[in-house]
Amino acid sequence: MAVKYAIIGGTGVYDPGQVDDARTDKIHTPYGEATVTIGTYAGKHVAFMARHGEGHATPPHRINYRANIWALKEIGVEQVLATAAVGSLQLALAPGELVLVDDVIDMTKSRISTFFDAERVVHVDMSDPYCGRLRQHLKDTADHLGYHVHDGGVYVCTEGPRFETKAEIQMYSRLGGSVVGMTSIPEVTLAKEAELCYATVCMVTNYAAGLSSHPLTHQEVVDTMRDNVGKIRSLFYNFIER
Ligand code: HPA
Repeated sequence: MAVKYAIIGGTGVYDPGQVDDARTDKIHTPYGEATVTIGTYAGKHVAFMARHGEGHATPPHRINYRANIWALKEIGVEQVLATAAVGSLQLALAPGELVLVDDVIDMTKSRISTFFDAERVVHVDMSDPYCGRLRQHLKDTADHLGYHVHDGGVYVCTEGPRFETKAEIQMYSRLGGSVVGMTSIPEVTLAKEAELCYATVCMVTNYAAGLSSHPLTHQEVVDTMRDNVGKIRSLFYNFIER
């Protein structure tokens, strides 16, 4: 049976959760190895990938995004459900809430963000970086479950691994950003190049620098994620089951 669905777990999502017969394999790609766990849920094969690796060992700027996306394509995945812990750029997006982002601003500095850097010149269309069809299905599933999700939002992707300054956050907010994180670029770009249907459900873990009354720590991000991750899991698995 084909592995149609994949979940990429970000900060705080390190295992596939409720799948049966889970098996973890290394997949060799032209860019190095990727680790993928495949299990079944509701009779369907589901692939799971921990973006930051085991024990959150890999920082955002060192993730092998190309190997990860290549590996998912290689095993036949068509739809990718990604999670992302993000800071909020707007008071209306509160910690603990979900945002189904529909656009992205790339503020990264040193990442290879294409499969097409040698033999062919390809300029991929990014008018709709996140798959509209998949987003609609996830929104419908959220409605069915009675979960509130913010439908649409702009993900500002920074280089990290440091958090932002207050001035940067003010600028991102004025530029039209909704949330800030460190991993959607180049993941979404590569998924687009690989012609995968890719959506990201963001969990707001904190107000970003300057909007928050206290300095931000990774622990705050992890704690909010831990308290709310059940929602993302049930959203994803309900979607896969339907
Ligand atoms: N900034 C960048 N990345 C993040 C944040 C943030 O405030 N929160 C969670 N990931």
